[in-house]
Amino acid sequence: MSITSLLRSRFQTALAPLADDVAPLLEMIRPSQDPKFGDFQANCAMPLAKKLGKAPRDIAAEIVAALDVADLCETPEVAGPGFINLKLKDDWIAERVRSIAGDDRLGVAPVEQPKHVIVDYSSPNVAKPMHVGHLRSSVIGDSICRTLKFAGHKVTSDNHIGDWGTQFGMIIYGYRNFVDDAAYQADPVAELARLYKLVNQLSDYHSAAAKLPELKQKLEQQQTDLAEAEAAADPADKKAKKKLKSDRKAVDATRDAIKSAEEKIAVVDGDAALKTQADAHPDIAKAARQETSKLHAGDADNQKLWDEFLPACLQALNHVYDRLGVKFDLTLGESYYNPMLTDVVSGLKEKGLATESDGATCVFQPGNDAPFIVQKSDGAYTYATTDLATIQYRVEELKADEILYVVDKRQSEHFNLLFETCRRWGYENVTCQHVSFGTVMGKDGKPFKTRSGDNVGLESLIEEAIGRAKSIVDENDDRRETPMLDDSQRADVAEIVGTGGIKYADLHHNRDSDYTFDWDKMLATSGDTATYMQYAYARICGIFRQLEIDRDSLKTAGGEVLLSTPEERALSLQLIQFDSAIESVLTDYRPNMMTAWLFETAGRFSTFYANCSVQKAESPELKNSRLVLCDLMARALKTGLSLLGIQTAEVL
Ligand code: ARG
Repeated sequence: MSITSLLRSRFQTALAPLADDVAPLLEMIRPSQDPKFGDFQANCAMPLAKKLGKAPRDIAAEIVAALDVADLCETPEVAGPGFINLKLKDDWIAERVRSIAGDDRLGVAPVEQPKHVIVDYSSPNVAKPMHVGHLRSSVIGDSICRTLKFAGHKVTSDNHIGDWGTQFGMIIYGYRNFVDDAAYQADPVAELARLYKLVNQLSDYHSAAAKLPELKQKLEQQQTDLAEAEAAADPADKKAKKKLKSDRKAVDATRDAIKSAEEKIAVVDGDAALKTQADAHPDIAKAARQETSKLHAGDADNQKLWDEFLPACLQALNHVYDRLGVKFDLTLGESYYNPMLTDVVSGLKEKGLATESDGATCVFQPGNDAPFIVQKSDGAYTYATTDLATIQYRVEELKADEILYVVDKRQSEHFNLLFETCRRWGYENVTCQHVSFGTVMGKDGKPFKTRSGDNVGLESLIEEAIGRAKSIVDENDDRRETPMLDDSQRADVAEIVGTGGIKYADLHHNRDSDYTFDWDKMLATSGDTATYMQYAYARICGIFRQLEIDRDSLKTAGGEVLLSTPEERALSLQLIQFDSAIESVLTDYRPNMMTAWLFETAGRFSTFYANCSVQKAESPELKNSRLVLCDLMARALKTGLSLLGIQTAEVL
């Protein structure tokens, strides 16, 4: 049990006679922010006193009198308006740290009630190359799976690939009309990606051309209205000023839309070959949609092409996953659920949940106008229908207790409607959660793109990270009197540092926020980065190498841990809270709770190492104790990083 949980269980007994609902009070027992106030602090006396109409300090004293923590804490202190400060006994910390020093799980007991959790992540739409947007889902999802498994849950990772959507109609149309046979033979995935891009570009061209006159008219109108409003506005009227500001913004937005449409048109107009293709295929968007419909309706020719394309697409995806070290138990794409969709819709209709609206079949939630469309007016099933079938399958066939969707936060409305529909459909026992995340931004404050405005390919991004890491590794090793790594080792280490850097940079942000992609920060050897942690790990391995001490035998022999200085105590107290870090990751599926723990721990280690000599320790016992702490630190780093999907190397 984590220290926080242990203290809370003791407080529970003490608080029971004073309050009916102790749960919120127990939440107020937390590690203290400042060691001045002890190691843990309980702030529950204040709200309780208010409720009971008594003085907070008296209530705090009452709680302390009833509290039985003598085995683990010094006498609790009541401070300020009624804070209860708790300081753990040194002996207790020392004993705890000794016991986890010999434990591969670092004191984390497997959960008592394991759940079967399905984690739906990565889930790209195939037939187009993976880009930087797919990084977050893959990396966050992978880390959540690893942490859940470590905690003792049964985990099924499922890559819910988009293998049945409109992009297939686009590449089928592209293949029939524009394929370069030689290129397709040589590299089918690259050729399919080119076809996808081409069809997209041509259909964007026509839609931009169709929209442009309308947009220009809109702009003119907006400008006229704005000019009138500006002339009429009273400068002292704040409301009017605000309105003008938002009107000006609207004008800018239309202007931007015109600019982007004109750019799309200019690219095609400026390229004779493209222009010929565009002119020859004026209805390309509709034609591509029809190919998708034919595929869905069971057209044999389209199905044959799909069967041919899909393995190539999967191979390309797997190549990226291999590089990232991400594995899936299942890859059940949207196509897998196609045969179940008719029954899903009829089932929803029978239950009276789905109704006709403007020719489409929709589910409406009480008090919400947003339709959850399960069948379009042309008969096509949707992303929503597939997701409903998927939940049914996951609950009935896979026996899921919980389903996590690691998906961009822009899809939150979809998931709200999905989960609500499922509950009303009868799947109320499965817990569904949208584990949402923000966008990867470029340094210009806009979504991260290449200079030409394309999405940044994931493959090239990983290559670049490894290339940059290689220079760091080379430089570092060349600086040694005798370099320690041969070429192939340097390449392996660069892979570990490069991919680790990308992953950590993503994971250490609060997943809900957008984050800015920054190569220099990502691979910095100091600060909150994987590189820093990986160096710290290698440095500890180096200490043992230098002293010629075998870490495994040290771990088996163990020995007492002596808290002879504040630094040793601070480090030990942190190390014995690895279980809390795991708990806090899993509370709301936030891997940044693990990076935060690692960063704090690494900081305490470096203070310890700077102040407490291992070599020149005052006694052999103290030297052994410090070595035990070093070894434990190395294992904590390795295990913590592994839960983020990041590897370590003994020499860097
Ligand atoms: N393929 C979707 C996309 O790229 C994500 C799928 C997420 N999973 C799900 N079950 N809806 O937007």
